[in-house]
Amino acid sequence: MTSRIQSGPEAGDLQGKLDHLTLSRKEGFRALAQAPSRPRPEALSRRQLKRLGEDALAAYNRSRRKWHANLGPLATPQMEALHEDLWDIFDSNDQDGDKVKGGIALDAFPGLGKTTAVLAFARKLHRRIVKEEGEYTQEGHERWPVCRVGLTSNTGMRDFNRAILEFFGHPGRFRGTSADFGYRALDSVLSSETKLLIIDDLHFLRWRNRNGIEVSNHFKYIANEFPVTLLMIGVGLAKRGLFSEGESYEDGVLAQTGRRTTRLDMAPFAIDSPAGRADWRNTLLAIEERVILADKHPGMIADDLSDYLFARSTGHIGSLMTLINRGCQRAVRTGVERLDAGLLDKVKNDAASEQGRAELQQALESGRLVSRPGGQS
Ligand SMILES: Nc1ncnc2c1ncn2[C@@H]1O[C@H](COP(=O)(O)OP(=O)(O)O)[C@@H](O)[C@H]1O
Ligand SMILES: [Mg+2]
Repeated sequence: MTSRIQSGPEAGDLQGKLDHLTLSRKEGFRALAQAPSRPRPEALSRRQLKRLGEDALAAYNRSRRKWHANLGPLATPQMEALHEDLWDIFDSNDQDGDKVKGGIALDAFPGLGKTTAVLAFARKLHRRIVKEEGEYTQEGHERWPVCRVGLTSNTGMRDFNRAILEFFGHPGRFRGTSADFGYRALDSVLSSETKLLIIDDLHFLRWRNRNGIEVSNHFKYIANEFPVTLLMIGVGLAKRGLFSEGESYEDGVLAQTGRRTTRLDMAPFAIDSPAGRADWRNTLLAIEERVILADKHPGMIADDLSDYLFARSTGHIGSLMTLINRGCQRAVRTGVERLDAGLLDKVKNDAASEQGRAELQQALESGRLVSRPGGQS
């Protein structure tokens, strides 16, 4: 038993090493796509915990730390619905000839699971295509079905093109003009037979001010020249004019991008309908099943903490998972070995959810709102 516990964290560390930096390179992406699922630490009772020696206990708790910090991705209804839409659009783009492929814009607030859900999709797509078509193209190049670029603050067009080269580790990524980088990016996409180009946090692209036309022209150029499905992710893309059909020349260019683009979003959990409450409960059940605490009892999360967690997360998956993660860390560290409102009250959450919390808490306490299925509302 002890040896299994000790081998756990080492074997599972691979996924922990995948930060954003490594994900911006194809090797990092492949590691994510091919990583085996993390080994799950055994559930031990209090008595079994007591019998562990000091070292074995430390190793066990270390493996639980890692485990609770990486509980996802859960197949939430939002994620499953998004994946269905993505498959529909991606597979329908598999047309012969030079037809321009329809793009996708995933437009939703932060913390709703956009990046997580898209990476899970990219992982499935990478595996499917490599399995069907092989690791190398007919010309003998490495096959990279997915290219993913994540933008950070205030990225210009040259840096954007360069980021694609960076993903592929292209030798020409250090010197050149924006256009040079663009041509080389096209070369990489063609030789790797890339089918899906993901641009995450597109709102960081300098947009609509001086570079507005440049940006939209560039995406038109990508849509026309690159044989890829373009998946743009961001916050407030619609507001930035990606879909607008305005009057000016600039608006007209943007509108052309908009018409070919299907807009998708991700919603927070809502508890104002029986279906919404069932979704919320199923997600809590899935989390409860994964939590590894000695004094966990059935219903600890899905029943006893349903209202509490809804109020504190306002139905946002990011805030929910932060609370659960931090709560589990505290429960292990302090030896409490269970989650309840008292312990979670001490755990801090992000600012946005805390704001919505007070109001929601009142509604839940006064009975105006219920989060559990079978409750009245
Ligand atoms: N399906 C999921 N299962 C488990 N955790 C998730 C899931 N989706 C999101 N999360 C958690 O929520 C946090 C925010 O998600 P993220 O995908 O970064 O959101 P966004 O890109 O919309 O801002 C992540 O750190 C992740 O841990
Ligand atoms: Mg994101």
